[in-house]
Amino acid sequence: MKIVRTASELRSVVDLWHRVDMQVGMVPTMGALHDGHLSLIHMAALQADRVVATLFVNPTQFGPNEDFDRYPRDEDADMAQFRANGVDVVFAPPPDEIYPPGDATLVHVQGIGDSLDGTHRPGFFTGVATVVARLFTIGRPDCAVFGEKDYQQLQVIRRMAQDLHLGVRVLGAPTIREADGLAMSSRNRYLSDAERAIAPVLHETIRSVAEEVASGAEPGTQEMRAIELLKATGFDPVDYVTVCDAHTLDPYVDRDRPVRVLAAAWLGETRLIDNV
Ligand code: PAF
Repeated sequence: MKIVRTASELRSVVDLWHRVDMQVGMVPTMGALHDGHLSLIHMAALQADRVVATLFVNPTQFGPNEDFDRYPRDEDADMAQFRANGVDVVFAPPPDEIYPPGDATLVHVQGIGDSLDGTHRPGFFTGVATVVARLFTIGRPDCAVFGEKDYQQLQVIRRMAQDLHLGVRVLGAPTIREADGLAMSSRNRYLSDAERAIAPVLHETIRSVAEEVASGAEPGTQEMRAIELLKATGFDPVDYVTVCDAHTLDPYVDRDRPVRVLAAAWLGETRLIDNV
């Protein structure tokens, strides 16, 4: 496994692969790897001849009061996981390789990037779309894999890749869960033992909303019931529980189209998201 730190090094390696018609899959990460990330790597390996993982804690997607400084960082442990799971190249750039001095270009995905987490974390999706657009432009992958755990992020990246004609197939991989249903996330390690015990209720609750709506219950009533239940369990605040169109993330109206239930809620200092 090769580790590269500069855009030009990554581009040279990928150019060589493309010259012999190899397909390149990319898995962007911020490190702090868990089994969810490994499943993305495995999917990329099935879809492409070579896998590039990126390791970059992207400053532009963190708000001023968010956890950029305390975000878990352990490069040696992450590299060992990448190596053991068949990654060919890791791109782990310093910040000014992605954001050169004088940098002034942002990518904002209107509409789908403005609701839900776009409202509760202003600037988050602009940071994500900006960094992923740059990673795609540097690494020119044929496909890239993202977790459905970050469902809105996946839809924002799909829109961005399509709108900018980046020629990357954006693939979603199913959420990997702990045995009790909690969606795996790098931020789960912030949870105290007491919070960790409560955390699976988020998944249980949205599953129950999905089942009720599938059986004909009114979505708005189910959203309200879920918010009350989460609050009573100790989630505070509950940013949203929403039943929406799985593609547009608009409020759910058409029973013939695929539906997603998404939620975001806080346990102490930790914000959890999930969807089914
Ligand atoms: O999901 C993440 O880990 C990040 O948002 C991503 C896609 C790597 C962009 O920094």
